[in-house]
Amino acid sequence: MNINENYLNLEQSYLFSTIAKKVNEFADKNPDKKIIRLGIGDVTLPLCKAVIEAMHKAVDEMSVQGTFRGYGPEQGYDFLRNAVKDYYAKRNVELELDEIFISDGAKSDLGNILDIFGKDNTVLVPDPVYPVYVDTNIMAGRKVVFANANGDNEFLPMPDENVKADIIYLCSPNNPTGAVYNKEQLKKWVDYALLNNAIILFDSAYECFISDEDLPRSIYEIEGSKKCAIEFCSLSKTAGFTGTRCGYTVVPNALGKLNKFWLRRQTTKFNGVPYIIQRGAEAVFTEQGQKEIKENIGYYKENAKVISETLTRLGIWHVGGKHSPYIWLKCPNNMSSWDFFDYLLENIQVVGTPGAGFGKNGEGYFRLTSFGSKENTIEAMKRFEKLFSDK
Ligand code: MLT
Repeated sequence: MNINENYLNLEQSYLFSTIAKKVNEFADKNPDKKIIRLGIGDVTLPLCKAVIEAMHKAVDEMSVQGTFRGYGPEQGYDFLRNAVKDYYAKRNVELELDEIFISDGAKSDLGNILDIFGKDNTVLVPDPVYPVYVDTNIMAGRKVVFANANGDNEFLPMPDENVKADIIYLCSPNNPTGAVYNKEQLKKWVDYALLNNAIILFDSAYECFISDEDLPRSIYEIEGSKKCAIEFCSLSKTAGFTGTRCGYTVVPNALGKLNKFWLRRQTTKFNGVPYIIQRGAEAVFTEQGQKEIKENIGYYKENAKVISETLTRLGIWHVGGKHSPYIWLKCPNNMSSWDFFDYLLENIQVVGTPGAGFGKNGEGYFRLTSFGSKENTIEAMKRFEKLFSDK
């Protein structure tokens, strides 16, 4: 029996598990302290009314023999795929139904998609970025090279013709920095991918936070992209589905075998998202659903504003929060990311995410999420004010 030794090349635990462990240990030792969690990007507002009503209706259907559903189609029910298709059409992106695959979230599909690619591909990953891209490729033993994101390129690395990559990850709006590619910049990536016969794995999980109509919310707004890009999106941040789990992946037919391979992979290894959840997801795309989720997104954006204004007052350098739920800040006094994490936890019991957890270029930076409650966000910022104005 051989084990997959590639796992030995991973950090001992997943970034957000490490943070949770540290915070729980602190909480056990300090039961009287109120911890405010602005670390993992987990939503706090409940599912909106339209979604809940649709789910209740679906639960009732499940209790009647005539409307009960067992196994559903692995790639998702047509009613939800049609809703996603219409959602794209509103932005002038025409998709075929068989290009849309309903999933239990972008995280799973971003990892699972690697099943349809050979091992001998060079993978290009921006640094810093969502750690799942790197970890899943390390597990598979693939060669990973990095595209440096930093203050000089406003955390938006561009293709380097001297680097030959086969699989390219892009995340826009970016997790963790909140940076968003504009159309011209994305076109350069598409051109690079077409020229190098590479594939772009485009993570658009935060597209609904984009507030500028001119910024692309889907890579398919860029000409030529259907021949070189797979897009992953999620209702986690859009509509509060972090616990309920539902997302969608688009694999264009123009990618040839990849569409059929992904269908083959999914029908073999996945049994689809529960009917009740898919009915809830369908409601997100209705007029009422869109109105309600926009209110929730607006609430989180207000939190982002509170965080940003406080940091500005304190003279702490930061970006993000405008087209994204994340604020990316420079750790004061040249502290390392993890030292700053410990410092905040010890002194004001505010939890964030150390930038180093997103890659080596994240060292010295720190991420705060706006997904907390309004009250907790205000309280966390009061604690920041007190801590940093005392200095
Ligand atoms: C994050 O905090 O980066 C995200 O919540 C992680 C995720 O979406 O899986």
